[in-house]
Amino acid sequence: MTESLPVRIFPDRTAASRTLAEEVAALVRSINDSGRPAVLGLATGRTPLPFYAELIRLHREGKLSFARVVTFNLDEYLGLPGNHPESYRAFMQKELFGHVDIPVENIHIPDGMVGPAELEAHCAAYEEAIRAAGGIDFQLLGIGRTGHIGFNEPGSPRESRTRRVELDPITRQDAAPAFGGLEHVPEYAISMGCGTILEARRIALLAWGSAKAGIVREALTGPVTDQVSASFLQDHADATFYLDSEAGAEL
Ligand code: F6R
Repeated sequence: MTESLPVRIFPDRTAASRTLAEEVAALVRSINDSGRPAVLGLATGRTPLPFYAELIRLHREGKLSFARVVTFNLDEYLGLPGNHPESYRAFMQKELFGHVDIPVENIHIPDGMVGPAELEAHCAAYEEAIRAAGGIDFQLLGIGRTGHIGFNEPGSPRESRTRRVELDPITRQDAAPAFGGLEHVPEYAISMGCGTILEARRIALLAWGSAKAGIVREALTGPVTDQVSASFLQDHADATFYLDSEAGAEL
């Protein structure tokens, strides 16, 4: 089958993560050398774990500093405080930020506790902070079984921006084990929009395991449609899929 954007298939997730971490470290160094902070868009979930482990390793080996890195996370569950173990703020602290030299003021994650009255202003301020930082140099993505990037579930418009989103039942089901039951999974989140994501200058989507093979094939070889928000990446000038052999098995 022909894919409409570059796909790199690795024997396993560790090899893929190592390659991408080295590329991102080189990008951060070259942007820092040019005299400005590097702006990274980050993802949560199971997929980025080996990638963050590799970034931490490079940091420990003295090959990557986060001192001049600014980050924007894709999303956060609505209704979860930052100290809730399943909040994405807690996840990022545990899996990356707590192990590297990033200044706390450089970290941006939507606030899951923002009230309904402030929600729109909070989302607009998030967009403005991305713009003020100069836009996202590199955006990391996973893919949900619904084809979502960020939490842009089926029906999310190509031009969508940071906003409140309703989680798809499949997405909530996938999160249920971590929350100890479906009834504990939030129904809403704040997510960067498809339009926000597509403005990143470079994008890498990671996917591991056979459960992702079907949706990866759809995103890469199916029509560009808001029913599979990852398919919008087909029209991006510098987006690449990094897959293990299982996730790439249906290509
Ligand atoms: C996470 C995010 C989601 C996940 C996707 C895959 O910040 O925005 O799009 O990347 O749901 O989740 P995992 O990696 O747990 O399979």
